[in-house]
Order: sequence, then C-alpha cells, then structure tokens
Amino acid sequence: MFKRNRRLRINKTLRNLVQETTLTSNDFIYPLFVKEGVGIKTEVSSMPGVFQMSIDEIVKECEYLCSIDLKSIILFAIPDVKDSVGSECLCDESIIARTIKAIKAKFPDMFVVTDLCFCEYTDHGHCGILDPKTETVDNDKTLEISAQQAIVHAKAGADMIAPSGMMDGIIETLRTALDKNGYENLPIMAYSTKFASAYYGPFRDVAESTPSFGDRRSYQMNPANRLEAIEESLEDERQGADILMVKPALSFLDVIRDIRNNTNLPLCAYNVSGEYAMLKHAGAAGLIDYEKVMMETLMSFKRAGADIIITYHAKEACELLRK
Ligand code: PBG
Ligand code: ZN
Repeated sequence: MFKRNRRLRINKTLRNLVQETTLTSNDFIYPLFVKEGVGIKTEVSSMPGVFQMSIDEIVKECEYLCSIDLKSIILFAIPDVKDSVGSECLCDESIIARTIKAIKAKFPDMFVVTDLCFCEYTDHGHCGILDPKTETVDNDKTLEISAQQAIVHAKAGADMIAPSGMMDGIIETLRTALDKNGYENLPIMAYSTKFASAYYGPFRDVAESTPSFGDRRSYQMNPANRLEAIEESLEDERQGADILMVKPALSFLDVIRDIRNNTNLPLCAYNVSGEYAMLKHAGAAGLIDYEKVMMETLMSFKRAGADIIITYHAKEACELLRK
C-alpha cells in the first residue's frame, strides 16, 4: 500500500491549510543607500530598482514603505569625504546620523537598523583601520572606533545596530559601549556568519566600497566552512548578540539550517546584491517569471530556518503580498 500524498494537494484551501512556511511583510528589512545632496535618486545599473538617494528622497521613500506595511529598513551611506580611518561616520553629524534623525522626525515608528562598518567611509575601502605592517585591518583598533560609531548611531535614534565588519570581539565591544552610555535596550544584530563572497559585487557599486587593493578574506569567512560558521554564531551569541545572521543567503541555505539547529536566537538571512541582480536581470531578459522566482527564493530562506530576511526585493514582495 502506498501513501496518497496528492490527497492533501487537491485544492487551494487544503493546500493552504497544510502550508508549513509563510511570508509576510513582517519578515523583511529593506536596504536603503543614502547619498549627500538634495533631490538625488540615481538608479544603479547593476541593481535595477535600487537607488542612491539623498536624505529628502529617503524620507519620501519611507512614506511609501509605510503605506505598503514595510516597517523595517537598514541604512548604508555613501559619504562625500573618505579618509584612512573613516572619520565621517564618527561625528554626530555623520550622513547616517542626519538620515536617522530626518526619518525619525517624520516616521517615528519606522524601525531603523544601521549597518556598522567602515568600508564605505575609508579611502582604501577596507572595513576598518589598516595595520601598515600587514596591510590588512587592525582588529583591536577597529573595535575602538566601532564603539564610537555605535554611539553615534544610538544617539541619532537607531533602533538596532548591525555590525558587518567581521572583527573579532565586536559584539562584546559594542554591547559594553552601548550599556555604558545608557543604551542597554538597543539590540545588536550580528553579521555573525559573513562569507567573503563574490555575490557582494553589485553592492560595492552602489555603496562605492570596493577595496582599493586586496580582498576581505582575512576578516570575512571562507565560503567552504560550515563548522566555523556555527562557531562564529555561538561566539557572537556568547558575546551578547540579540539576533544572528547568515550572509549571503541563497548559496548558504545549509548554513542557515545548521545555525537554526544550534541556537535559539532569532536568525536573519541577508539576500545579497548579487542574488538580487541575478533574478532582476534574468527577469528583464524574459528568462524567468521574476515575481514567482522571487517569492520562491524568499520562501526558501524561511524554510531553511531564517526568521528575518534582509532583501532588496522587500518592496516588491510587500506589494505582491498586499494583492
Ligand atoms: C559592508 C557590507 C557589505 C554588504 C553589506 N555590508 C559589503 C562587503 O562586505 O563587501 C554586502 C551586501 C550586499 O551585497 O547586498 N561591510
Ligand atoms: Zn565593510
């Protein structure tokens, strides 16, 4: 006797009743890129539908996002000035600080996450202060300025801080600095498993953050390593992370599942720029049904075990979910 699995697929209502995973607008965090200036909204050719926007345009965008029930964003900045230590992001009037304040003034309920890193602010494009001897990022010096950057974000009104530089000890450093300054209720979402991935290419076009020499392999993880990803996650949990992350997402669904099975913390999947670009360009070329492939892809992250998805598709996904 064989089992008739098709019995539960007989009609839509029954299929919906037994559906294990669902997507809602509550699942998404939408990335936005802030550029200095006024009235600027420049589309990035490698990522159709993604724009560099000035603060006034970001605020307008937030109004629209609220209207489609998309309530969480993550901010990245493209500053006008860069230097060897990324001073721009360490002052209280940094582009990110001004953006948070402008958004919060109009949309206090918008949940604003900040990406905390230095690659967008340094003239060499690496994620921290360079050690001149080794020509790679000096871990502990970068921790010191990371704490400073976190306080800038916190003072400006950020709702959650997401350090993405992959420095050792970053979570403990930020937690201590935030607590000492009265921000003990500000959560930290760790980019706990961030692979040195070629899928970040289009992002670096948008964020203008390609390293001027070398690569990020001395701080970001080797994509071949699964056990190390679990170690990184558990270590960030031990240091006080509130939410963990796997990035990129699509080629690392196994890692998402492994981490889901090793921790009880909420888990975020970052569906990165290259993953977005592949679908967008394949859709534009008429090779795939873009909307269907997008929803199937987003669903796969949740099925793999993610609770939260950072994705450039968030706006389109929320629009579809409302229909
Ligand atoms: C900054 C940062 C990067 C991304 C998020 N934060 C780029 C990088 O590490 O080179 C990539 C996001 C994407 O590709 O969508 N460290
Ligand atoms: Zn960086």
